[in-house]
Amino acid sequence: MSELALTLSERQTADFEMIGNGGFAPLTGFQGSEDWRNVCGQMRTAEGDYWPIPITLPTDLECEVGDVVALSSDEGKPLGRINVNEIFERDVKYEAETVYGTTDENHPGVAAIYEEGNRCIAGPLEVDALPDHEEAFMRRYRTPAETRQEFADRGWKKIVAFQTRNPIHRAHEYLTKAALETCDGLFIHPLIGKTKPGDIPADVRMRCYEVLMEDYYPNDRVVLGVKPAKMHYAGPREAVLHAIVRRNYGATHFIVGRDHAGAGDYYGTYDAQQIFETIDIDELGIEPLMFEHTFWCHECEGLASGKTCPHDAESHLFLSGTKVREMLGNGEEPPHEFSRPEVAKILIDAYKEDN
Ligand code: ADX
Repeated sequence: MSELALTLSERQTADFEMIGNGGFAPLTGFQGSEDWRNVCGQMRTAEGDYWPIPITLPTDLECEVGDVVALSSDEGKPLGRINVNEIFERDVKYEAETVYGTTDENHPGVAAIYEEGNRCIAGPLEVDALPDHEEAFMRRYRTPAETRQEFADRGWKKIVAFQTRNPIHRAHEYLTKAALETCDGLFIHPLIGKTKPGDIPADVRMRCYEVLMEDYYPNDRVVLGVKPAKMHYAGPREAVLHAIVRRNYGATHFIVGRDHAGAGDYYGTYDAQQIFETIDIDELGIEPLMFEHTFWCHECEGLASGKTCPHDAESHLFLSGTKVREMLGNGEEPPHEFSRPEVAKILIDAYKEDN
């Protein structure tokens, strides 16, 4: 029995969970140098499977190849073990350049890998348990296998998945419903792992999703789940990772809108859509559904996009993220055309509690 032990960071705990619950299949452990190099350079694992962002375990822990290291979550829950089969140095600058398209340390994903450093241990995992989550998340928690079963029980064949790290506003709702029009079912799959400061916390978002499930989504056609992964803010590369994960959860289609998984101005509005042009969709095993920038148009009297709306920008309701935060912070409801009043109320209350 090994005495080596490592407490994972919040980000590493999320990776452990995604590997352990099957969400990161075909990964069965933290990646080694060959995987790392292939993933950065070619978006594939050493085995040749599509994989866009390295999943590595950076640590200073003194250990040797052959060691077994007990792993616990950031909250101290024993999770299992890693069988160390390699200790290697990654080059975080190269990873930043190839995966994130920038070496700017102000990029939240790049900052995170710089902070973690180069030295990694790699190897397959033995999983005894998964990390704990609050009840509000657990009531919606299903593993990929359980989710696939749920879709099968409902008789769904064509299932579209929606990734989000935001509350669902009217534009998001429109995308999901437009997609659902041509599918059997919709899988709303918010990310609940670590996000950057300024993003709305997952517990608050969860309340928003629940109220929409109550009042605005047909529950016989929609499954709300949770994805216990962290955000990388890697734009196009992360869109591919998001798609692979939803394939593993049983979806056949995946929504990619404007600036998917972006942060700041690091990526072009449709970069995350264009990356799929370089990918063999059959091999990937899930089809992206692209949506243009969507907005409320006063002339159309509905949600629309540049593709469907003939009117000028003056007819379009546009609120920047900063403006919306300012309104909510002042206890002011954004227009109903932007956000459902029930969602706005939850967000206003959360801002109040916070201050
Ligand atoms: S993300 O980081 O998870 O991509 P967000 O939760 O804002 O951020 O977006 C979820 C999905 O909705 C992404 O596919 C994104 O491209 C899309 N999206 C968000 N807002 C719009 C919009 N106004 N028009 C089109 N697509 C959008």
